[in-house]
Amino acid sequence: MMSEPTAVLLTGASGYLGGSLLVYLLHKFNLRSQNIKLFTLVRKAEQVGKVLELGGDVTPLVGDVQDAEGIKKLVIDNSVSVVLETVDARQFAVAKPFIEALTIVKERLNVPVHFIHTSGAKMFSSHVGVDQSTFLKDDGDVYATMARLDTRHPVMKQFVSLNNQIIDFAENNGVRSYIVAPPMVYGPGTGFGNKVSIQIVALVRVARALGQLYQVDNTDTIWPLMHIDDQVTLYVTVLSNLLRLQAPYGKNGIYFSENGTFGWRSLSLAVINALRNRNSIGIIHELPVATDEDLIAMGEVLDCNVGMVPVSLAGNCLIRGNNARKLGWAPQHDVEHLMSNVDNEVAFIVKEDSTFVPKAQLVLP
Ligand SMILES: NC(=O)c1ccc[n+]([C@@H]2O[C@H](COP(=O)([O-])OP(=O)(O)OC[C@H]3O[C@@H](n4cnc5c(N)ncnc54)[C@H](OP(=O)(O)O)[C@@H]3O)[C@@H](O)[C@H]2O)c1
Repeated sequence: MMSEPTAVLLTGASGYLGGSLLVYLLHKFNLRSQNIKLFTLVRKAEQVGKVLELGGDVTPLVGDVQDAEGIKKLVIDNSVSVVLETVDARQFAVAKPFIEALTIVKERLNVPVHFIHTSGAKMFSSHVGVDQSTFLKDDGDVYATMARLDTRHPVMKQFVSLNNQIIDFAENNGVRSYIVAPPMVYGPGTGFGNKVSIQIVALVRVARALGQLYQVDNTDTIWPLMHIDDQVTLYVTVLSNLLRLQAPYGKNGIYFSENGTFGWRSLSLAVINALRNRNSIGIIHELPVATDEDLIAMGEVLDCNVGMVPVSLAGNCLIRGNNARKLGWAPQHDVEHLMSNVDNEVAFIVKEDSTFVPKAQLVLP
């Protein structure tokens, strides 16, 4: 006789990461053979129908991650023992009620409980002061490295201790935690909601609004990349293995998602030239160095403080993701794929990013 199914709750069903993962779980993953009962969180009642239209065996739940008591009730009432969180990389207050509720489910059902937190590569980068002379490996002691960091950046400072805080809180409450840290994710999302990612969209927005992209760093900095399809299979690899209690967790459960690196200057040049090509303007071979005025203008386009512009569009991040690979994850898309797909990527973003109206229209959509 089959045991009770494991109730898994995926948040962010209408998002880029969560939405793409949901579609994969429903149509490319055998939920039944893994004995999973899948729930997914949306925050608006009208999104319930969109989830159901996807087909497949999933129960949508409506809730807001800012409503701690409501979230706890959802988890406890549905006996959820695995939470896959893709909504908020930055607030402990979002992770906390999920973990607290999992503790109660564990006590009631006497089963292992698991919390997967979606973080981000920025939290392990030059922006928070991680040493960039060598690659930080996720199967090394990342927890201790992060605990020692003395971050100066005024905004990033508040985020740098977050992953360790989640690991500690989960451990103290008997919950197995897994920190998944995606880098610059690209490629068309497959969910019903947002289909585009953050950083490459930011590059395209700046390029469209200002008619130019810039060298933001003094040196040619590099950042890890990840195609959305590979990001999804990383989550699935962690999920399948944690169900068998074979995925490292807690201080050993940090999963850097990367399949090589790209250069910010090369990518920026490719993006601006893709837009120039679309508008029959000759390509350029070098980017101008950003002046203070350029950085202010970029901040206006991105609707952020000028100090956050380099955090969005530059910086070094040298991370190596060994943990998921040890569990069998094999990403398929590398820097060659990224760079040879920039034209398609830009075209897709321009189509999807319809609410963005470039002020200057120097480069037409
Ligand atoms: N995409 C990347 O390249 C990347 C890389 C590293 C880290 N991350 C991190 O991963 C997370 C997800 O990224 P994403 O690209 O998938 O973002 P996204 O497309 O904007 O999706 C965010 C999801 O969270 C939901 N949400 C937002 N606030 C909520 C609330 N209060 N209660 C319930 N649901 C709420 C959104 O629902 P609505 O549709 O209702 O707004 C949406 O489903 C973010 O924290 C991001 O910083 C992303």
